Amino acid sequence: MRLNPNVVATELPPLLELTATAERLAAEGRDVIRLDQGAVDVPPPPAFAARLVARLADPDVHEYAPDPGLPELRTALARHGHEAFGAAWDPAEELIVTAGANQAAFAAILALAGPGDEVLLPAPWYFNHAMALTAIGARPVPLRTDPDRGFVPTPDAVAAAITPRTRGLVLVNPNNPTGVRYPDHVVRQVTELVVAEGLWILADQTYHELAFEGGTALSPAAVPGADRSVVTVGSFSKSLGLAGWRVGFLAGPAELVREVLKVQDSSVICAPRAAQVGLLAALPDARAHAAKVRALLRERRDRLMTALRDVGLDGFAEPRGGLFLFLALPGHTDDWAFCRRLLEREWVAAVPGAAFGPGGGSSIRISFGSTPADRLAEAARRLARAVGRL
Ligand SMILES: Cc1ncc(COP(=O)(O)O)c(C=O)c1O
Repeated sequence: MRLNPNVVATELPPLLELTATAERLAAEGRDVIRLDQGAVDVPPPPAFAARLVARLADPDVHEYAPDPGLPELRTALARHGHEAFGAAWDPAEELIVTAGANQAAFAAILALAGPGDEVLLPAPWYFNHAMALTAIGARPVPLRTDPDRGFVPTPDAVAAAITPRTRGLVLVNPNNPTGVRYPDHVVRQVTELVVAEGLWILADQTYHELAFEGGTALSPAAVPGADRSVVTVGSFSKSLGLAGWRVGFLAGPAELVREVLKVQDSSVICAPRAAQVGLLAALPDARAHAAKVRALLRERRDRLMTALRDVGLDGFAEPRGGLFLFLALPGHTDDWAFCRRLLEREWVAAVPGAAFGPGGGSSIRISFGSTPADRLAEAARRLARAVGRL
């Protein structure tokens, strides 16, 4: 079979193998600790299920939704966007409901970039963005960030990386995989620079509501003059615990949203309608719910950092939001071999840093989203054993 070489050149999702092994070990009765998946173990607000149960006999719920999403949900999301991101999106033309932030990002990338285009990604990067770019024949260009400077990209580095082929920049803030949050002044400077250069920013706001310092983090969508250049993708997978329902959104200039609708119609058609119905009921409580998730994650983050330091593993930048900690393991050059050993011998699943692109090597990504604090401490002890320090 003749395959698309761009897709063949795209990495396979790194979690496939780890998940299969972790599940096999658990089925064999091993006490596996899952630090691999970016999942949160908090159930959605009760209003989500209550509304769905009440509406399930309604034939409409089982139909397609309009491609851009239920109009009343888009109106509610525009309100949410204003409160959460300081954005002023027109729900009729500048916002659509998507099957999660990932589908939104893929559709945006397809509409914004083409073969040969370069797109800047602070690295280590979120592998799905790099995968999407590679699959469409564009080039993800790493902006290497320095762990000693908290993995924050500098405006100078962004400026230096721009070439005539550069089309845009992707910002994930708070970040996956590093867990850091870019300071507001950096977001502002980078946004101003990118706008001045006539480029776009894809702002992945999956963890925006889970920034530990609170809900005032600056979004590129709030930078004056950036409304023509910023595309925001948002998620409810973590902040509302709705990962399996596949519902999120994309917001940006009307001209872009119009093009994205072509991708939407020829791929998913619409985000699952049942998920949209439930989300509409859950949205009024969304920010309060996210605050509870945030508090829990912060507590786990604190416990994990203490436990790691207690066993002599201190090669990380303090996570400032979301659910990840990126741990340097100097001397371990083969992250994959290390993570396989960690899983097979210590029954701890973590993701090799090398899966997150340039600058990710000799590290692992730890998710603390779905593991209670006492189990995180146990995981740190096992990790130290695997590293050979206990
Ligand atoms: C940065 C980032 N964007 C998007 C997603 C996927 O979000 P969704 O489930 O809304 O597609 C994730 C999930 O881990 C993520 O870390």
